[in-house]
Parts: sequence; C-alpha cells; structure tokens
Amino acid sequence: MPRCIAITGPAAYAARGMTEPSLPAWQNPAFVAVRCFACGEVHDHHTLLTVCRACGLPLRVDYDHALAPLPPHALAGRPASLWRYREVLPIRPEHAVSLVEGWTPLCPAGDRLLIKDESRNPTGSFKARGIALAVSLARVLGARALSAPSAGNAAGALAAYGAAAHLPVVVAMPEDTPRTFVDECRHYGAEVHLCAGTIADAGRWLREHGPRDSFDVSTLKEPYRIEGKKTMAYELWEQLAGDLPDVIIYPTGGGTGLVGMWKAFSEMRALGWPLPRIPRLISVQMAGCAPVVRGFTEGAAATVAWPDPRTRVWGLRVPSPLGGFLCLRAVRETHGTALAVTEADAAAATSRLAARTGLDICPEGGAAFAAYEALCERGDISRDDTVVVFNTGTGLKYR
Ligand SMILES: Cc1ncc(COP(=O)(O)O)c(C=O)c1O
Repeated sequence: MPRCIAITGPAAYAARGMTEPSLPAWQNPAFVAVRCFACGEVHDHHTLLTVCRACGLPLRVDYDHALAPLPPHALAGRPASLWRYREVLPIRPEHAVSLVEGWTPLCPAGDRLLIKDESRNPTGSFKARGIALAVSLARVLGARALSAPSAGNAAGALAAYGAAAHLPVVVAMPEDTPRTFVDECRHYGAEVHLCAGTIADAGRWLREHGPRDSFDVSTLKEPYRIEGKKTMAYELWEQLAGDLPDVIIYPTGGGTGLVGMWKAFSEMRALGWPLPRIPRLISVQMAGCAPVVRGFTEGAAATVAWPDPRTRVWGLRVPSPLGGFLCLRAVRETHGTALAVTEADAAAATSRLAARTGLDICPEGGAAFAAYEALCERGDISRDDTVVVFNTGTGLKYR
C-alpha cells in the first residue's frame, strides 16, 4: 500500500516545485504534521483526528521550529498562562477557547522539594490544560458536540470549556465518583451519565450509547490534550531559571502529563534551549491499579489491562491506559522509575502535605508525595536532588 509522505515547510514545497497551500487562520505555522507515536503514519491535521488509522495508537503533534522559533528571551512579558508558549502549540491563541489556564505556581515545600500546584487552574485541576487545547482544536475543525469518559476532573474541565466554546457536552463517569464532580458538570450545562465500574466502563458506555455526533476527547484518543499538558515542563524550565529539576514525581492515570512533559523535553532540545539536565520521570500509581508500574517492573514494552482496579484515588483508577507504552518509554528513557503506593500511605501523605504547606492537596498529589517519601527512604532520591511533586488538582471536590 502506498504510504503518505509529509511535505512540510515552504522550503520542502519549493524543492518539489510546488506552492505551499495557505494555512488556515487558526494554525500555528510551525505545526506541520500529525504522526502516529507508534508507527509514524501521517494524518491530515486539518481534519478531526482520533487515533492512528493504521494501528489504533495515539497520535503526536509535530512542529518545524524553524518556521516559528521560540528563543527563551522571547518569553519575557508574555501572558501568565500556557499561551505564552504559542510557538509550540498547534493553534494561535486568538482562536483558542481559553479560561486562562496554566502558569501555576511552583511552591517550596522543604529542602529542594517543590510542589507544582495545579489546583490553581480553571476548574481546579491540570485537566484544564489538555482540555483547553482539545476543545480549541475540536471547535476549529468542526466538532458539533463533545464527549469523554472521566474519573471526575476531566469531566469538569470538559463541561466548562464546552460551555465556553458553546458546544454541548456529554460526560460519563463511574457511579462512585464524588458528587461534587457531578454537580460541577451539571453546573456548566453538561449531560452526565453515571456508570457501574471504572472509567473504562464509562468509555464503553459512551461508545455504545453516547450521542453519535459527538467528538470523543478521551485521554490520548485525540492528539491535542498532550499539547496542553506538556506546557507544565516548559513552565518548570522557566520557573527554575532555565533549568529542570532532577526528579519529577507524577501521579499517573492515562499518563497524558507524563508523556507530554517527556515530549516537551525533546522539543526544548530541538528549540535549542539550554538543558543542563533531563529530569528522571517517576510514575506513581496505586497498589490497587498499577498497570504502568507492573509493565515497568516486568520490563514489558506495553501495559496490560489491570484486571480488578480498586482505589479511592479516582484519577489513578485507569486500568488500561491507551498510552501505557508511552508512559513506559518516558520513564525508561529518562532513567526514572514507576512505583505503587498503598491507600493508607497516600491518604496519610495527603493530609501531611496539606498541613505542612497550606496547599490544597488532592488524593493524587498526596499519592505522589507518598512516593517521594518512599523514594527518599530507599535512597533513590538524594539530598542533592531538586524534586518537583505534582499536586494535580484541588482536594476540595473529593468530599
Ligand atoms: C487529580 C488527578 N491527578 C492525576 C490524574 C491522572 O492524570 P493522567 O491521566 O494525565 O495520568 C487525574 C486523572 O483523572 C486526576 O484527576
């Protein structure tokens, strides 16, 4: 079968005696292609995209940085949101659906320990970053309605950004999702369905019973949520005055943030930013649902569905992440690790970190802090390491 060849950038067109087609007004000129993370198949990025049509795995957004360079000095005076990185985002900020997301504080919490406090985002979690990009692209590419299964935070974010985009939203969540998430979605006018089981069952419900005309923005089932989440790494670089931490501890469900930050490191390198170090990425999961940890420990190339997922840390109850193989690559290539924590350790660590810092720590952030303590104890984190623990959302919605 003939394969698609991507012709990208004005020079490549000129070399073939062709004229470059004019860009849609919304498009960052450096956004040149969408390719499959796994098999490299190129897809038409002027259409609504889901997963790779050849192999069914997640798609990656590629840039030609020569077409829109981003030298670090250009960032001075830019807006305090993720849109300050417009050269490495697919859509121009003036065409985006934004509630002013990103640029969250990096809060000192002890000797060389910093908390990236994502609870300050619109709708109270880091999901706002990814959903802002997914909704923005879905809108310009013609989506008429939006849907997603969620553990809670993504649903709240999708409901809010859907409202801002004037697009109807349907979300499906496990029936034991804390009520505040359900109320939040309805507050923004979304239709909510509660399903028995986990986020995987909610996804199945949407596929079988959800509205036919809605575009599914599930984690890694469309290419743009990663683009929003990767900005966390760009922010760390700026907030650490042109450096990155030695270690990043990230509570992993679907893994969008983990994969996004790993992608950002290679983009920064391609942009020519000085990178004194690449952080060791630590993927944290719960003992009752740890497909990435199991895959890492067993040396596997991909994750296998967790048969009986059980945890009250809802954001981490993701039994079969589509991008599990990417999480494993991100952890291995950065010489990081993956570890599981118990319910009791995560709950205790959540309270301890909140009481010690005054930050609004969510259970997932608490799990990451429990992992930090365990890694310090077993000597995997040394006194000289600068460590960033992600508090991925507000704790207040879990009551
Ligand atoms: C607060 C919180 N932290 C972490 C996660 C996991 O995020 P990711 O899917 O990017 O791994 C979620 C997902 O729902 C979440 O809500």
